[in-house]
Amino acid sequence: MSALDELAGRTAVVTGAGSGIGLGLAVHAGTLGMNVVLAELDEERLEAAVATVRATGARVLGVPTDVGDPTSVEDLAQTAYATFGDVAVLINNAGIEAVGHVWDFEPERWSRMMRVNTDGAFHGIRSFVPRMGASQQTSYVVNVASVAAVSAGPFNAAYHASKHALLALTECLHLESQIAFPQLQVSVVCPGSVTTRIFEDASLSGDDETGGPRQMLDYLRHMLSTEGLSPAEVAEIVFAGMAAGDFWILPHPEQFAELAGARAEQLLHRRAPALPVFE
Ligand SMILES: NC(=O)c1ccc[n+]([C@@H]2O[C@H](COP(=O)([O-])OP(=O)(O)OC[C@H]3O[C@@H](n4cnc5c(N)ncnc54)[C@H](O)[C@@H]3O)[C@@H](O)[C@H]2O)c1
Repeated sequence: MSALDELAGRTAVVTGAGSGIGLGLAVHAGTLGMNVVLAELDEERLEAAVATVRATGARVLGVPTDVGDPTSVEDLAQTAYATFGDVAVLINNAGIEAVGHVWDFEPERWSRMMRVNTDGAFHGIRSFVPRMGASQQTSYVVNVASVAAVSAGPFNAAYHASKHALLALTECLHLESQIAFPQLQVSVVCPGSVTTRIFEDASLSGDDETGGPRQMLDYLRHMLSTEGLSPAEVAEIVFAGMAAGDFWILPHPEQFAELAGARAEQLLHRRAPALPVFE
């Protein structure tokens, strides 16, 4: 029996499951015969997503959740365990975007990015990993980072900082799990462009409608809508990577190699980051 077949009848929890990659992951889990718990901040999106995943034939539970709030994530874990008794897969996927000069970020907007993109995964780990680790069955924690976790770019500092921190957090979790919970497998997903609404919801700081941040937001929106993988394609890659036991799950391997290679060069040769060339 393959690792994917063994997930049938077990339970997946996906955060940010109301849209984009999270919804794609939740649908994919349903098609594998898993029970699916959808955690989402936006209740309208949650309701629609629950109906979509239920159409796969899966047993589905929608839990309104703010991953930035540890109490909300603990309630999610209690509800998931009370309903299904076991969680095999936790995917910390919820994330947001914000564009602007570093100095224009209001402190609350900066903190919110960290709370959702970085602390959100920490809250998931804190509430689920001890419970998952108590089971002798193989289980999986998957954190959705980005190619932004190994690169830097202008007008997107809060996002890059949150994803660099998420990558470091995931690497440390992988090491500690090997000691404490060897049956727990940890993975990080680093996608490039995926066609979702993340930049439709992104906030823009400052009031310069023609400056760099606005151009960057327009560029990113365009790139995601024209060049992105679909959430369904990413979901297939994520579950295949998990099943193969991969720590690094890379939907865009060439882009990742280019950015990680450039970063390795910078660190080794102490070069400053270079501005990207926009095509
Ligand atoms: N789309 C891309 O090109 C891309 C590339 C690399 C990484 N990612 C990452 O993939 C993940 C999913 O992004 P997406 O593109 O599918 O975005 P999306 O905006 O389509 O979906 C994100 C979902 O998370 C929800 N959410 C936001 N804050 C939340 C919170 N506090 N608690 C619970 N849910 C919350 C949103 O309501 C939304 O439904 C994010 O972590 C993002 O950083 C996306």
